Amino acid sequence: MPGCYRPGMARTRTAFVCQACGYQSPRWLGRCPACDGWSTLVEERVQSESESAPRAGSRTAEPIGEIRPVQEARLLSGIGELDRVLGGGLVSGSVVLIGGDPGIGKSTLVLQALAAYARQSRVLYVSGEESPQQIKLRADRLGSIADGLLVLAATSLEDITATIREVDPAVVAIDSVQTLYSPELTSGAGSIGQVRECAARLVNLAKADTCAMFVVGHVTKDGSLAGPRTLEHMVDTVLYFEGDRGQQCRILRAVKNRFGSTNEIGVFEMSEAGLKPVANPSALFLAERPIDVAGSAVVATIEGTRPILVEIQALVSASALGTPRRTTLGIDPNRVAVLTAVLEKKIGLHLGGHDIFVNVAGGVRIEEPAVDLGVVAAIASSFLDRPIAKSALLFGEVGLAGEIRAVGHAEARAKEAAMLGFQKCILPEASRRQMRAPDGVDLAGVASLREAWEILF
Ligand code: TYD
Ligand code: MG
Repeated sequence: MPGCYRPGMARTRTAFVCQACGYQSPRWLGRCPACDGWSTLVEERVQSESESAPRAGSRTAEPIGEIRPVQEARLLSGIGELDRVLGGGLVSGSVVLIGGDPGIGKSTLVLQALAAYARQSRVLYVSGEESPQQIKLRADRLGSIADGLLVLAATSLEDITATIREVDPAVVAIDSVQTLYSPELTSGAGSIGQVRECAARLVNLAKADTCAMFVVGHVTKDGSLAGPRTLEHMVDTVLYFEGDRGQQCRILRAVKNRFGSTNEIGVFEMSEAGLKPVANPSALFLAERPIDVAGSAVVATIEGTRPILVEIQALVSASALGTPRRTTLGIDPNRVAVLTAVLEKKIGLHLGGHDIFVNVAGGVRIEEPAVDLGVVAAIASSFLDRPIAKSALLFGEVGLAGEIRAVGHAEARAKEAAMLGFQKCILPEASRRQMRAPDGVDLAGVASLREAWEILF
């Protein structure tokens, strides 16, 4: 019962709060009486004003010029891909959320990272999913046995916070937040109320004790409601671990980082002995590229601060359906729809009666418009059944008028292309004018889709 007295425990009051309108009820209700929303009530701990945790910072406003900067100490794991995604190391007192599908390798990553930190300081791995014996077995296989690495199998928030205070570790990992429960709340472990309450208490603890904390959270297939998404605003850094479980390649992506740039990615390969950093992701993504096959184009994209070459594949085939299919993997379907329309209008390709499938090879997800030109080229190449020269690489944003717009970091993209042996770069003319050509690469600046067309086909 919410708010009932339990011996030996401080009295706390909880309420079910509507997430849409803020209505409070002492009991759970399926439908909010105030806003008529369904399943919007979530249990929360109710605090009086006086007992609520002190807020960060001071009460006096001060001139910005007089604020003294604090040197943030960064802990390096030595795993380059992880350190870069974190923005140059782990900041003490910061909380890092690691989200991802079950089985993608979150526990493996966290254990490997902790073992690396344990060489310099004391660290604590808290697991609510595995027994200490299972963790030992896994650590043995990963070669992650280190003296400074302590292991705790627990799910009660009280036990965990007490242990953290006792051990005083430099880094803590909680695997996973969905297994934790606080006895102060009546809802079960894994419910939104519990996940949020436990995460909030852990964040406060990390800030107060200035230890760094990794919090692992599973993304649930159905809307990820009780998952890490609800925690994103509480933590300093949000990393998502992505990839196809059937494939070896795993991508760690920073979607929020108070201490570094976002969209930074780290690439790993899952092997028998755990995760191995991939120093040259472009080579990995292009390893299985079919040569002289229609429908394949290589683009240079910028992920965070790093250029990466990936292959865009398109398949255009006559459709048997009234409404042709437009299916994409790794790229926004709306973007592809727009680019298809531009191809129809500006080049006059009759794509209306064709199914179009577009895929970013290697399980990468791209959001950058700079890959537009590659998407357009791959679709056209498949439609015409004419391959794009294997030594050519493309990038550039395609506008609705068929113009090719400049993109940032053009020189870095061309350099990456040169490094992987590409000899020709088709890029926006406006970008070409502002850069130097790397050795061995011939730059072809184009201002419109028509010009790109002349070069490609
Ligand atoms: P895990 O870290 O347990 O995933 P998560 O914590 O995200 O649920 O990793 C699970 C998968 O990784 C599992 O299917 C086995 C595979 N794996 C390897 O291939 N090699 C290894 O060395 C380890 C530890 C796991
Ligand atoms: Mg796990």
